Amino acid sequence: MDHFIYQNGALFAEDVPVAEIAAQVGTPFYLYSTATLTRHFKLFDEALDWGPHLVCYAMKAASNQAILKTLAAEGAGMDVVSGGEYARAIAAGVPGERIVFSGVGKTHDEIKAALSGGIRQFNVESEPEMRVISEVAVSLGVQAPITIRVNPDVDAKTHAKIATGKSENKFGIPIARAREVYAEAARLPGLKVVGIDVHIGSQLTQLEPFEQAYGKVAELTEALRADGHEITRLDLGGGLGIPYTRSNEAPPLPTEYGAMVQRAVGHLGCEVEIEPGRLIAGNAGILVSKVIYVKNGEGRDFLILDGAMNDLIRPAMYEAHHDIIPVREPAPGLEPQPYDIVGPVCETGDTFAKERLMPPLAAGDLVAFRSAGAYGAVMASEYNTRPLIPEVLVKGDQFSVIRPRPTYEDMINRDNIPEWL
Ligand code: LLP
Repeated sequence: MDHFIYQNGALFAEDVPVAEIAAQVGTPFYLYSTATLTRHFKLFDEALDWGPHLVCYAMKAASNQAILKTLAAEGAGMDVVSGGEYARAIAAGVPGERIVFSGVGKTHDEIKAALSGGIRQFNVESEPEMRVISEVAVSLGVQAPITIRVNPDVDAKTHAKIATGKSENKFGIPIARAREVYAEAARLPGLKVVGIDVHIGSQLTQLEPFEQAYGKVAELTEALRADGHEITRLDLGGGLGIPYTRSNEAPPLPTEYGAMVQRAVGHLGCEVEIEPGRLIAGNAGILVSKVIYVKNGEGRDFLILDGAMNDLIRPAMYEAHHDIIPVREPAPGLEPQPYDIVGPVCETGDTFAKERLMPPLAAGDLVAFRSAGAYGAVMASEYNTRPLIPEVLVKGDQFSVIRPRPTYEDMINRDNIPEWL
């Protein structure tokens, strides 16, 4: 459920008409709903209420400071994957003991910054990384709390570019070698082993792959405890999928996910951490864009929008589907017609949808891409020197621009001219 619904023929974000925001901010822009963000966070939090837990929002999905502050105020922890994301979490006021640091290539400087600023744990991805974390910790005179990310060799049944739990993926250490690697971790002076980490992929629409992976983690917990390790925390990653189409997709709900987690690992008495990104932010955001032209092509009509692949890369990159709806509710009985919906960037890949059935639209009409809150704004670029588009946050009847659109001067002035030119 989200808070983008038609009221009296117009699309609203909570209590604000989307067209009103478009008139003030200009298009295209991302628009987020506070009520949806907090609702999704609470759903997860409540689903894990059967035991000690922390929901660490994977901010890679949408990392605007206002979004982070909104979630932090609800009690969210954060999952970060770079020094930049760590700095964002701290800037949003998230205490270090609620920040987990994931990612396959943490650098010496990133590790140092997190150890100095405070960190709940590093999720270690390889032996060389584990040794560097230990070295940095020793140089600072501290012990770094760690889990080791295991790769359970499970098929997440999702798009190949976002599956991470198969043995051929670059993530984690093979679960079969885990005991050996934990033994080394226990010997390294700068490390304190606290648990196990796993994350098998994103946009999972079934519980079964999670359950398989978590079952393997439960077995490993017992084996590691028998080896003398103190395993008190299980970080079970993110990945629960969202419905991108209204019609046929019904991924499991957070409540069903939470019950499955309890079945799989509840008996171990560990604190559970999860790292959802998409489910919290995805349906909490839309991308609003304007039709610039309707172009009658050879046997097809193109809707040329002012938003493009640089603003929302998911269709070009993952063949992802986003529902696209008109901001003015179509009159009943209007015959929908097929359009190829494209942006102005000079690539055929800049196509959002082919032969998409839409009510008849004209230049100047506004459309909204649904489910664009996760991996939308954060993956945007300035390709074709198109400014990064603004982000706007709604709360009830208020809205605020939480990232302004840069001017052309802002963009140009970021470049430096060498002295010799
Ligand atoms: N934890 C780790 C270690 C991750 O790598 C990810 C996502 C998450 C948590 C959050 O997963 P989520 O709950 O959002 O599924 N750009 C792609 C998605 C990439 C996901 C990368 N890792 C897309 O637009 O579909």
